[in-house]
Formats: sequence, structure tokens, C-alpha cells
Amino acid sequence: MSYSLMIHGGAGALEDLKYEASEAVFRESVLSILQAGRQRLEGGESALAVVEFCVMMLEDSPLYNAGRGSVLNAQGQVEMDAALMNGSDLRAGGVTCVKNVKNPIALARQVLEQGDHVLLAADGALQFAKQQGTELCPDAYFVTEARIKQLAEAQAAGRMTLDHERIKPAQKLGTVGAVACDLSGNLAAAASTGGLVNKRWGRVGDTPIVGAGVYADNETCAVSATGYGEQFLRTVFAKTIADFVQFQGLDAAGAAQAGIDYLVRKVNGDGGRS
Ligand code: GLY
Repeated sequence: MSYSLMIHGGAGALEDLKYEASEAVFRESVLSILQAGRQRLEGGESALAVVEFCVMMLEDSPLYNAGRGSVLNAQGQVEMDAALMNGSDLRAGGVTCVKNVKNPIALARQVLEQGDHVLLAADGALQFAKQQGTELCPDAYFVTEARIKQLAEAQAAGRMTLDHERIKPAQKLGTVGAVACDLSGNLAAAASTGGLVNKRWGRVGDTPIVGAGVYADNETCAVSATGYGEQFLRTVFAKTIADFVQFQGLDAAGAAQAGIDYLVRKVNGDGGRS
């Protein structure tokens, strides 16, 4: 039995933008995380554990719009979303609008393992994090000068943007995610994000929503999306891709393309997937 692993650091085209970090820095970061995840799969770890691990690594890097590198909402705060799903039994866990949680994906894993609920929000999620002993960080860990400047620019222009949006040069990539198939043939998917620059306080995107930003089912595929959450929510994007596999017999690549075609056709969507 073989394994497979894909990770993403957000939709967008590196060559179109002038980043604070060079393309080489992003490439090295992604490849080193991918390599570490591959070693874990080779060592027999579950797909669920490996997608969590990879997303934690991405959250710990200030390069990406997740965890430490999260963008700021309209009030200058970091509110993060994350979720993951296990393809063998459809267990899932998500957190939304969480603050001060170092690794939202690890908290989502605890929601999944605890099992009573699928999605916890805001203060309730924070209380759960404290009960679980989840690592918390002060605002200063997340709120950087670059992010403050980015928010000020977005507010001056009166817009709400993806971190990597083409009209906003000198920005970094967006939402992160991972999908994996382990040596036992089990699938898992994970995603984590700070959301949109200058988003309304309390806004929930696709990332923590099972079927929109993430989905995994051993019978079909594993999906981790990145892009404008509102469009991914309206098209139930991740489950739509899985349905192309299940009900139309497409392979993973064909289903992903069919899902993107549907996203563009129905809501003029913008983003990507792995
Ligand atoms: N896809 C991330 C977001 O819209 O929040």
C-alpha cells in the first residue's frame, strides 16, 4: 500500500505578486513541511495525524494566513477558523472565530476526538481550549506590524480581501491545508485560516465548515479548499467535489476540476483546492 500527501499555503500565483518573502522562501517552507509529513506517513502515522501535523507547521510559520500569520479583522483582531475530517468514519472537528489559540487545528482535533460536537465557536471554543490545556498565546504573538499595515491599507481602500489577492501587492499567501492517504488507505483533510483581511467581526468562512472548506470520505476523496469562503459556502464546495467522485465516477483530478468549474459557473468563485 502506498501513501500520498498534498499541502497548500493558499490560493494565488506567486509570480504575480511582490512578497515580503521571496518565492524561494515559500517553496522551501512548503517542501520542508511536505517532507516532514511524508516521513510520518512512511512511518505508519495515520492520515488524520499527518494532516494535523502539517497544518500545525503551517500555522506556526508567519508566512501563511493561519495561526501566527493570520490576517486582521476590521477591529484589528485575529479570529481564526480551522477544521479537519477523518475519512474512515466521517468524524470531524472544527473551531471558528477563535482568538489566542496557538494552533487552531490542534483544537479542532480535540473537538473531533471529544466527539460530542463537530464545531465550537468563539468564547465556547476558548473555554474548551482552556479545559483541554491547549497552548494559548498573547495577542502580540499574532498581531504584527505588517498585518496592521495591511489592514490599514484595506480599510483606506474600503475593501475586504484575501491575503494573497492580486490587487494587493506585497502580501503573503492565504489559508493553509493538507490532504493525505495513509498506508492503510484512510483519507483525511484539514484546513486553517485567519480568513479575510478587514472581515467583519464574527464572520465565519468556509474553512471550519465540513462540506465547504474540508471533506474526507474513504469512499470518495479528501478535499481542503482555499479562496473566498462565501463562495465556497454557497457551493458546498468540498462535498460537491466528493459528489463528483461518488455519483459521476470521476477521479480525484477530474472531480477537483469539475468542482472548480461549478464554483466559477455558479458564483464566479475564486480560489483553489488540494
Ligand atoms: N477560505 C478562507 C476564508 O474565506 O475564510
